[in-house]
Amino acid sequence: MFEISKRDGMARIGKFTTTSGRSCETPALLPVINPKIKTVLPRELYDEFGFRAMITNSYIIRNTPDLKEKAQSVGLHEMLDFPGIIMTDSGTFQSHMYGEVELTNREIVEFQKSIGTDIGTVLDIFTEPYWTKEETAESIKETLKRTEEAVSLKGDMMINGVVQGSVYPDLREDCARKMAAMDIDVHPIGGVVPLMEQYRYSELVDVIISSKMGLNPNRPVHLFGAGHPMILAFAALMGCDLFDSASYAKYAKDDRMMFIDGTFRLQDMQSLDCDCPACRGTTLQALRAMGKNERIRLIAKHNLYQIVRELALVKRYILEGRLWELAEVRCRVHPALLCGLRRLREYQDYLEKFDPVSREGAVFYTGVETRGRPVFLRYEKRIMSRYVPRTKKAAVFYGTEGKPYSRVFVSDFVNARRQGYTPVVLSPFGPVPAELDELYPIAQSVFPEIEDTDTQNESEELTMQFLSSFFEETVSFTDLEKKFGGEPSEEEVRENDIERIRAVARYQFGTDAADALLDGKIDYIRSRKTGKIRNVIVDGEHVLSMRAGDGMFTLRIEGAKKIAAKVPKPAMRVQVADDAVPFVAKGRNVFAQFVLDADEGLVPQDEAIITDSRDNVVGTGRMLLVKSEIQAMKKGVAVKTRTGKEEGKDGEE
Ligand code: GUN
Ligand code: ZN
Repeated sequence: MFEISKRDGMARIGKFTTTSGRSCETPALLPVINPKIKTVLPRELYDEFGFRAMITNSYIIRNTPDLKEKAQSVGLHEMLDFPGIIMTDSGTFQSHMYGEVELTNREIVEFQKSIGTDIGTVLDIFTEPYWTKEETAESIKETLKRTEEAVSLKGDMMINGVVQGSVYPDLREDCARKMAAMDIDVHPIGGVVPLMEQYRYSELVDVIISSKMGLNPNRPVHLFGAGHPMILAFAALMGCDLFDSASYAKYAKDDRMMFIDGTFRLQDMQSLDCDCPACRGTTLQALRAMGKNERIRLIAKHNLYQIVRELALVKRYILEGRLWELAEVRCRVHPALLCGLRRLREYQDYLEKFDPVSREGAVFYTGVETRGRPVFLRYEKRIMSRYVPRTKKAAVFYGTEGKPYSRVFVSDFVNARRQGYTPVVLSPFGPVPAELDELYPIAQSVFPEIEDTDTQNESEELTMQFLSSFFEETVSFTDLEKKFGGEPSEEEVRENDIERIRAVARYQFGTDAADALLDGKIDYIRSRKTGKIRNVIVDGEHVLSMRAGDGMFTLRIEGAKKIAAKVPKPAMRVQVADDAVPFVAKGRNVFAQFVLDADEGLVPQDEAIITDSRDNVVGTGRMLLVKSEIQAMKKGVAVKTRTGKEEGKDGEE
């Protein structure tokens, strides 16, 4: 069972529980234990490092008579002395390294079951990056056949169904889709070790994203053979939940130390600037002078500490909604990784479907690649499709020094508006009409004052496109005659606020829903402290509350009813089964299995109208999942309910 509690990008924080009742939090890395060597003891991995899952090789155990006998008599957990989750691999990697292995899929699956593995692996066929498409397609057929067989044999053991497909995105996606239809528990993405060894990160991005497109979002995804700390943030961002590392021990044997910015040979290192528990108190000279075995163990532990630390950081950034930032920073340690990050932009459109409409933290710009984040495309799409200009003339303002813009350009906005011009600010996001300047991500973003030409060009191009689609006349504000100035009048403030209410509602809910919602006499209450809009009242009913943090609206049930009365379903709707209605009406969250239908356009953190099967409004809430995920999920909260219809007043957020 896989329960997701937090997401960012395609990454998720989840709890994975095996049939045997063992569980671990994801993202997780499974250290590889070679049962014949055990550089670091499984018990140490559990107690000292806190690893709750590990991976070992059932093929090696099966081919080593005393290990085989022991594993079958006392079980794998006792033999290795590891109380957490044990995953086993099947011998596929050995066939990739050394050629064919002499055993069948059935034999190795049954063997894994006989030793009490938590998660066993099918004997998949490793699709090499240099294979032709035909060769790859043929071998996938065989892998799928073996996977079906493994599923029929698995019993209480969980099974890894490995996505293969070499470097062919269409074959990857197709293989993933077929795997998604089977009763598989975990999906490793296989055949990627050579891509990582050869620093072919842009192809790795193609492989991961195309596999993710076909897979079931309900199951954890394991990136087979990925264990270097420098890739963890980036791979997690793309939706990989599990990783494994044999390199911590393999590198240690060759005196190679892993750091966040690469792997370095002890003999080449100029200093040992590491404060991990393994290195603390030692020096480069002492390490070099150490006995071979002691040194291997120390370096292996150092390598594990680097992994542990980075994983903790990845989790923190997911919790803070800032994983894009960490991944962008990490991808700068090697140009090949940067290339991977640049490739990811090709999938901006796909990623945008899952990107939350708002985050707690600000958008921090780390460089030109930041514009590849889905948050930029989201803004572009919504502004181009949901904006309605107040006048037909635009005055363009330049400059990003302060935010929100309407507090920077007070007098100039007054001058423009009194001459019938709508102020539009040219920002790194593209055009920002004055009405939207407090909205996430516009006000909640930090860019360097000295811009780069890429971002400048892109935002200018988008602004030109916007201006020509929505306005008949455009001038630079510097060319406007200075006829007016000063502070806006009371009446103008009111007009601007009402215009802001309309624009934000359209941006969030779409034009039709916003117009339906605001059709009537609009009143509003401002915060006494900040002067910002707080509550919006239409014909005497409190329909919206604006959040100070992201400048977005919380939809109240009276507002939901106004929309539902005029805009046909499925717009903004999440329709729940009748037996879930009494629970939602009391304010309980909407679970995925009770959802009958949902608006495809809703993204995480969007406001949703919860309805029953006859389209009666039963509550409002915030989306946690998107429609395709809801349909694939058996468990999990789809909508965080804010108000049920029986609750009366809802709280402010
Ligand atoms: N370990 C690394 N890559 C792979 C793979 O593609 N399949 C299996 N089973 N194990 C692996
Ligand atoms: Zn160290």
